[in-house]
Amino acid sequence: MTTPIAHFNGQLLPLDKIHISPLDRGFIFGDGVYEVIPVYEGAMLRGREHFERLQRSMDEIRLANPHTVEEWLGLTQELLAHHPGNQSVYIQVTRGVPPTRDHVLPTGITPTVFMMCYALRSPSKEAIDNGVACITARDFRWEKCNIKSTSLLGNVLARQLSADVGATETILLRDGMLTEASASNVFVVKAGVVAAPPRDNLILMGITYDLLVQLANEGAVRLESRPVPEAELRSADEVWLSSSTKEVLAVTTLDGKPVGNGKPGPLFKRMHALFQEHKARLRARGTIAA
Ligand SMILES: Cc1ncc(COP(=O)(O)O)c(C=O)c1O
Repeated sequence: MTTPIAHFNGQLLPLDKIHISPLDRGFIFGDGVYEVIPVYEGAMLRGREHFERLQRSMDEIRLANPHTVEEWLGLTQELLAHHPGNQSVYIQVTRGVPPTRDHVLPTGITPTVFMMCYALRSPSKEAIDNGVACITARDFRWEKCNIKSTSLLGNVLARQLSADVGATETILLRDGMLTEASASNVFVVKAGVVAAPPRDNLILMGITYDLLVQLANEGAVRLESRPVPEAELRSADEVWLSSSTKEVLAVTTLDGKPVGNGKPGPLFKRMHALFQEHKARLRARGTIAA
């Protein structure tokens, strides 16, 4: 197998030729931010919105962005020229390599930029048709979950709890309220109305979340962003996950108990269909930022 081409600090290089200093703040402190953009046959889904979120993450950690959104989109296109088909583009920016290890933010160093692609693994037909199993856990992460930080240990440990029991995701509860899952946003449906936790610092504001809000509006599906108590999650008719790779996925068991009738519900099917239509339009236009 040939080594894939990746981007490193302005250059396209084979992935195995890229070397990063052990003093890089990303390695030492997890001091960096990232994005993952789904690409369907060369067309980025919401590329611009992903780079706008990258900017918000960088603002939160006081890191100067080395590129404008337009430049980022161009760099991504250059990389994608080497990666046809459906891809995930991974973009990471760390604070760079200071002369020594010190918690205090260094000045005058250049951020490290790394981008790579790998085959997009969209949900299987089985997962779409039957839904997936999830468990719940206490949200033991920090209070800046709105930053798409490379410091993912909290999310990694949360995800492992579900992996340990063969489930797809760990849905997190903080002080009796739903927040999100280890790598997805969560929606609940009751009596035909969809609800998702509010846009605050306790969740990562998903680009897919926003897309689902838009598709719900266009499709006359009622969707509210508001606090969701644990009891509402546990008594929901439907529960969904959303993320750039999962798209929208029905949760059909929660902590081993069926959600609703244990099958993907009617509103999930509607949103899933709207999502697929949106992707088909995107592919047809070949646009980068729809
Ligand atoms: C913690 C967390 N929440 C939500 C999401 C969903 O975000 P997006 O729809 O932008 O992929 C992700 C995606 O990786 C995530 O890691």
